[in-house]
Amino acid sequence: MQDVLEEVPSSGKVKLPSRLHHTAWVVEDQERTRAFYEEILGFALTAFWIEAGPSSRGKRLILSHAFYGMPDGSALAFFCMAEPEDHEIFKSPVTQLFNHIALTVDAATQDRLHQALIDAKYPNFSLEHGYCKSLYATDPDGLRLEFAVDVSDVDRINQEQLRDARGWLEKWTSGLREPNNHLYTSLKERVGDGMH
Ligand SMILES: [Fe+2]
Repeated sequence: MQDVLEEVPSSGKVKLPSRLHHTAWVVEDQERTRAFYEEILGFALTAFWIEAGPSSRGKRLILSHAFYGMPDGSALAFFCMAEPEDHEIFKSPVTQLFNHIALTVDAATQDRLHQALIDAKYPNFSLEHGYCKSLYATDPDGLRLEFAVDVSDVDRINQEQLRDARGWLEKWTSGLREPNNHLYTSLKERVGDGMH
């Protein structure tokens, strides 16, 4: 995949960010979040900061910031406000299917996660995208997670997309609405009313 990225014209001219550093989401209960990420999904709590942030409601905002690290050094991170009144101010928005964080996994890891969610009776579903197969679950504070397994010939697929990505963007901007992903059946056919 690195070779493909190096062929992106703009990537050769400027130095791009090297990887995701962390995501950020506001949660209501750090222990509830820890139980979900550690006990169900198998992540590990790798850092836990307690900080005094900028003022809120006329006084210092006290919060905690928990990190669950991933092998490349990135992390899923979660803020929690000490005071319920501050949580109401800063809480994360309600999301739907199209707002999510997607994490790359191998097939065995996706199977483990799927079974762990089933064992915990935690809602989840899977979708085929053609270029990847994904498992979805929503964390206790509404953060939607996708665990994606790339198909075996994803490099070829990515190369083909890379060749004409700008062209497809221009066609979309000009009004083209005919799907160009023929690797799977339509999204609505697959998830129906589950999209909301
Ligand atoms: Fe996605």
